[in-house]
Amino acid sequence: MSKTAEFITHLTDGQNYKKDSIILGTGILDGVPVTGAQVKIALKTMNRHGLIAGATGTGKTKTLQVIAEQLALKGVPSVLMDLKGDLSGLAQPGTANDFIKNRSEVIGVDYEPMGLPIELMSISDEKGVRLKATVSEFGPVLIAQILELNDTQQGVISLIFRYCDVNHLPLVDLKDLKRVLQFITNEGKEAIQKEYGQVSSASVNTIMRKIIEMEQQGAERFFGEKSFEVEDFLRTKDGKGVISVIRLTDIQSRPKLFSTFMLSLLSEIYETFPEQGDADQPKLCLFIDEAHLVFSNASNDLLEKIEAIVKLIRSKGVGVYFCTQTPTDVPDSILGQLGLKVQHALRAFTAKDRKAITKTAENYPESPYYNTSEVLTSMGIGEALITALNEKGIPTPLAHTLVRAPITRMDILDEAEIDRVVENSALVYKYNQELDSKSAFEILEKKMNELEEIQKKAEIPGPKATTSRRTTQDESLFEELSKNTMVRQLGRTIFRELTRGILGSFTRKR
Ligand SMILES: Nc1ncnc2c1ncn2[C@@H]1O[C@H](COP(=O)(O)OP(=O)(O)O)[C@@H](O)[C@H]1O
Ligand SMILES: [Mg+2]
Repeated sequence: MSKTAEFITHLTDGQNYKKDSIILGTGILDGVPVTGAQVKIALKTMNRHGLIAGATGTGKTKTLQVIAEQLALKGVPSVLMDLKGDLSGLAQPGTANDFIKNRSEVIGVDYEPMGLPIELMSISDEKGVRLKATVSEFGPVLIAQILELNDTQQGVISLIFRYCDVNHLPLVDLKDLKRVLQFITNEGKEAIQKEYGQVSSASVNTIMRKIIEMEQQGAERFFGEKSFEVEDFLRTKDGKGVISVIRLTDIQSRPKLFSTFMLSLLSEIYETFPEQGDADQPKLCLFIDEAHLVFSNASNDLLEKIEAIVKLIRSKGVGVYFCTQTPTDVPDSILGQLGLKVQHALRAFTAKDRKAITKTAENYPESPYYNTSEVLTSMGIGEALITALNEKGIPTPLAHTLVRAPITRMDILDEAEIDRVVENSALVYKYNQELDSKSAFEILEKKMNELEEIQKKAEIPGPKATTSRRTTQDESLFEELSKNTMVRQLGRTIFRELTRGILGSFTRKR
């Protein structure tokens, strides 16, 4: 058998999948792409997470695009965190030139350019579906995280959430949170002290200041209603999975908001999606481009939570894919969980680079066909070392791969095209209305007004005014208020609040 024939057998053995798979490209031997040595990912294992790494300009984002496209064609929706704004092109067909056609022929795939169904989303003011969450849904742990609170301040936030739970005060936006903070140091001070003990006004002031700082960074665009229902990530259109592109270009300067947002999204998905047993394909794949931004500024605490949730979310049929420059950007505990590894070229400029390369090479299975660290530094653009999991969950042989070209546009949409995507969106209408439900702010305002009224009346001695009525007036007021329509209106928020899963249990453990 010739070396090439042996190579083909080596790569493709054990990849005659019974279930569906996607073709990523074809194997390269001694610098030459080999037709017939296709490198595939078994769809069945795509909830086992992955990494796409490599130096800038080596093809990471295009590989991400290719995978998301192929998933969409199989009817699997995905969510892309687009930190550089280069992924909107998925909505438009790519251009078939000779270079691309030849590439596809060698790889053994048809090149059929097409635009795919996408939704543009944003957590700030960019065009597209506004992703929001209520403060209640976000929960005390993440609020404390995003505000960078110390233990004492964190205690105050937990207290506030508990108080609001018990008293049916929905925390929708930051205005609510600020109002309750004000309440516990002013009007409500005595009641709070009786039940929860002394609350340091210095802590309250600090929290208040940090909330205002966060508002100045635009966070008040994120907190509020209507909160996003993660089931809306699961849509298909004409049998194709809808690709939700979350545009986060304006968030690079605020990595904390980004990492916390990501954790909130993952935990929401984890809580909402049902367990998925052994399935033929993932339910949803989530891609995080420029993932080092998630990890580089995250506290250990936040990292632990991200790691834990990444591990757990697999059972919901959700795969998470990190796209970053070197694998060392991703914590070891996450690296150890990854099924798919795509390593584009690394550059060896410094001693530190060379160390990273040696370490990276060690993380890949050995191959009789390659000197891994040599290939790592010599690969061309759009090539990568790939190992995936086969249907049985065993790593496939390491393959120096010529990655197929995206069938969608390798460039971004222009403004008019973006407008068209937004106009045709079913979700923009659902989510982009300003709501200001009756929440903590309004309820507390009303309560204060009513208390004033009652006090005024009490000054005029009436026949039925008894002292016992007055001591319980606080409670009965809450009772009455809680019967209000807002309880039903915000049922979802409160329900979440009471059953807050994973992040709630994290707090309880400490
Ligand atoms: N699979 C591919 N097929 C064709 N061209 C590619 C492919 N991958 C990368 N390229 C070329 O390389 C350029 C850089 O790729 P990109 O994915 O943006 O790099 P990175 O995200 O690693 O910085 C692209 O604009 C494209 O011209
Ligand atoms: Mg990129």
